[in-house]
Amino acid sequence: MTSRRTFLKSSILSSSLLLPGVVKKGANLLSRQKQSEKTYKPLIVSTWNHGLEANEKAWEVLHQTGSILDAVEEGVKVTEADPASRTVGLYGFPDREGIVTLDASIMKGNGDCGSVCFVRQVKHPITLARRVMEKTPHVMLAGEGARQFAIAEGFPLEEEVLHPESEKDYKEWLKEAEYRPVINIENHDTIGMVGLDAYGNLAGSCTTSGLAFKMHGRVGDSPIIGAGLYVDNEAGAATATGMGETIIKICGSFLVVELMRNGRSPQEACEEAIARLIDKNRDNIENMQAGFIAINKDGEYGGYAVHPGFNYAVKHEGGNELEDAKSSFKE
Ligand code: GLY
Repeated sequence: MTSRRTFLKSSILSSSLLLPGVVKKGANLLSRQKQSEKTYKPLIVSTWNHGLEANEKAWEVLHQTGSILDAVEEGVKVTEADPASRTVGLYGFPDREGIVTLDASIMKGNGDCGSVCFVRQVKHPITLARRVMEKTPHVMLAGEGARQFAIAEGFPLEEEVLHPESEKDYKEWLKEAEYRPVINIENHDTIGMVGLDAYGNLAGSCTTSGLAFKMHGRVGDSPIIGAGLYVDNEAGAATATGMGETIIKICGSFLVVELMRNGRSPQEACEEAIARLIDKNRDNIENMQAGFIAINKDGEYGGYAVHPGFNYAVKHEGGNELEDAKSSFKE
């Protein structure tokens, strides 16, 4: 008898061949025209419900400072500081040792980028990532080195006390101490934000406390330039959410941007990247969520996920709204 798992696998594998985002061979991609009349400049798009509030802040900062980089940094700081967020910032779920470790990255459309990973006690890892970009000759600092850099830069270190809700869940988890990824944890995960200003400058940011109850030292896609985030003024910007390991394996955000460079719309690029992700993660894909959002230099946007349940917030002059992403698996 066909098991549910086998059925899901075979249906997803055959459907991945038919995904609408997979552009047919031979299409003249480089001469692609804009596919949508709906283009927006400026435009801010970010992952999940928490993106709505973050977008509002980013929009305000963009109009105050004129800097799309300031906008994407300040936007995600709202989520990093939100005690209600269990998946971003120091109030997030701890790892299996009971320690919260954070990952973040930031990137400009000219290729400048910075990131921090496996860092403790820093309330705003996104600002630390920007500091790595602007004040060091490096792209990425990890763990204790990142923390020492934070101290040297005058960042206050927070006490390592778990948020009461995170502590409660951690104690519950310890009873069995079995790691099972949860699809769409309470409708949020990483916050990734991509933004375009009125002059065609792009920037992006991405920040997370990573998987709940992960192995100590585990680093996900979010701080890895090209996996969790990629930005190029010549093409577009993309960011990722969900099971980091699946995203790292396909250099997901870089892939989305390269697909846009080669003529795909942001929506097509996200769909094709998810098809690739499914193809390279067949073993357990029915239990793994991952999603991408993208914008291109013309001001089009798109988003797509492996499973239903992923949503993203889109902010432009006309409003700030959540959109449900389409997905390869259906309800
Ligand atoms: N996407 C976040 C993580 O896997 O850590």
